[in-house]
Amino acid sequence: MLFKVDNLNLIYDIGKEDQTYALRNINLSLEGNRLIGIMGPSGSGKSSLLYSLAGLKIPSSGTISYKNMKFKELSVSKSTELRRKDFGFVFQRHFLIEYMSVIDNVLTPINDNSMKAKEKALGLLKKLGIEHLAGKKPHKLSGGQRQKVAIARALINDPKVIFCDEITASLDHSSAREVMKLLDEYKNNALVIVVTHDASILENADDIINIWDGAITSIKKRGMEGYNESAINL
Ligand SMILES: Nc1ncnc2c1ncn2[C@@H]1O[C@H](COP(=O)(O)OP(=O)(O)O)[C@@H](O)[C@H]1O
Ligand SMILES: [Mg+2]
Repeated sequence: MLFKVDNLNLIYDIGKEDQTYALRNINLSLEGNRLIGIMGPSGSGKSSLLYSLAGLKIPSSGTISYKNMKFKELSVSKSTELRRKDFGFVFQRHFLIEYMSVIDNVLTPINDNSMKAKEKALGLLKKLGIEHLAGKKPHKLSGGQRQKVAIARALINDPKVIFCDEITASLDHSSAREVMKLLDEYKNNALVIVVTHDASILENADDIINIWDGAITSIKKRGMEGYNESAINL
């Protein structure tokens, strides 16, 4: 089991007048080598759940473990190191560095300018069909191409978990499908978690976790005959 979440609650501005219950009693176990979708409308708590799994949000109560390590028992430096080594992130906005070339953007997480690292970055860009853009600056690229660069950057350190937050939101349908196809291939090496409010991009997902008002309402697991909705006895 890669992730285990027990009785997770996340409340923003706790105790204040405008406190928000973002996650309510979440219980979840996630295995590796799967593509998992977290689905729900805007404001339902998807990003909160994603960043909690990544150890970037501290639960108000409950426990999250990754590889049997409880985040709350790790030092800040240990959890930072874990994220750097094991996790890759792709966001709705790509956050590329405009004055750096595409290939240098891809290399930023590993801080390594060796020939070997460059070849690896080029290999990833090739897989994404944008190797020819390696020397270009991000502003020369289309939205879909930029998002692919952000994906290559997330994959450069061979993450065990790839966290994706609404990454297809600003893409046209064909670019969105291409990006999802790539992530689907990547699940052979990692757990891929995709947060979205768009069900159409989750055609290939192994599991779909539906979330509503901070609570999980159903988990659908893909089996031989399509999706089976599990009893919500989590
Ligand atoms: N940093 C924050 N401070 C206060 N409230 C927040 C913060 N981030 C999110 N929220 C609130 O928590 C709820 C869940 O938000 P979020 O996890 O971003 O949902 P989603 O990603 O599904 O749109 C929403 O009501 C949102 O307004
Ligand atoms: Mg969000």
